Amino acid sequence: MKEATILGIESSCDDTAAAVMENGHLLSNVVSSQLDHKAFGGVVPEVASRAHVEHIIPVVKKALEEAGKDKTELSAIACTQGPGLLGSLIVGYTFARSFAQSLEIPLIAVNHMHAHVLAHFIEEPKPKFPFICLTVSGGHTQLLVVEDYLSMTIIGSTLDDAAGEAFDKSGKMLGLSYPSGPQIDRLARMGKPVFEFPEPQVPELMFSFSGLKTSILYFLQKKTKHDKSFISTNLSDLCASIQERIITILMNKLALAVERTGIKEVAIAGGVSANSGLREALREKATTEGWNTFIPKLSYCTDNAAMVAMNGYFKFLEKDYAAIDSAPSARLKWN
Ligand code: KG4
Ligand code: ZN
Repeated sequence: MKEATILGIESSCDDTAAAVMENGHLLSNVVSSQLDHKAFGGVVPEVASRAHVEHIIPVVKKALEEAGKDKTELSAIACTQGPGLLGSLIVGYTFARSFAQSLEIPLIAVNHMHAHVLAHFIEEPKPKFPFICLTVSGGHTQLLVVEDYLSMTIIGSTLDDAAGEAFDKSGKMLGLSYPSGPQIDRLARMGKPVFEFPEPQVPELMFSFSGLKTSILYFLQKKTKHDKSFISTNLSDLCASIQERIITILMNKLALAVERTGIKEVAIAGGVSANSGLREALREKATTEGWNTFIPKLSYCTDNAAMVAMNGYFKFLEKDYAAIDSAPSARLKWN
């Protein structure tokens, strides 16, 4: 069989990434993160798009070099079509489309959230179908039943903020810079969850994080009124308490999904799956509940192009190609 050499490109948010995969084996994985957003306390779409324009060619070049491949050896180009920031998606997708057309090879459109799930197939151990995946990122919180590489059903999602947003917005209230998820994770390890924040009462497999955000805000307002240094004195305990609550919200819903479906093959994916507390909580379930758990390597949790190339490979095998005049979409539909 002819080699399937796929170039994956990811530009849905603030990371410009490219990876090369041959017959499902990863050869290179390059990510260029944008530091400019720290000063603004969040991702500024215009700043992100401009940075993608600067990074896209050097990042793709580096991915090909590290893989030891020439562009003429590529079989197809897979690129994130959405969901994400439209300006950012346009840079990556337009580049991928033009590159594919100039090389006369297929273009493959990838759904960013599917790609997060398929990160589990880059390396061993790989989950068996069907499995449950809790996909938690900066923009999404989803519970999925994954029936096959290209077939996944959403069984639960958030009514308001995403889990990553809950970390980032809480961090902002504590004076931490963006993205605050990794900082809360680090600080939480030095503290104890001594402050109680309420668990939202939302039915079945739905999530909600906006009530938590409001209760943290009111709690901090009340405490800092009399003690200006309350946050700095209690920072690690506050982080531990916020993180603990976010994790219990996620884990309780995950447990309910297992109960409802009877599926004990359970994975986590997306940026928040890098959280050490969540990873630990899932590992514990393997021991206490006999779940077969799957936790991605840290570099495959946050945005990367290896997962896009992986998704591209499965679509390539199915000859599921995108039209050369297809366009990216900020709110790309699920299937
Ligand atoms: O998947 P991702 O890289 O980008 C999106 O698709 O949104 O996820 C980014 C999110 C951010 O909200 C960030 O704060 C969060 O993942 N995150 C974490 C950790 N690392 C990244 N949240 C908690 N703990 C972490 N260690
Ligand atoms: Zn993502």
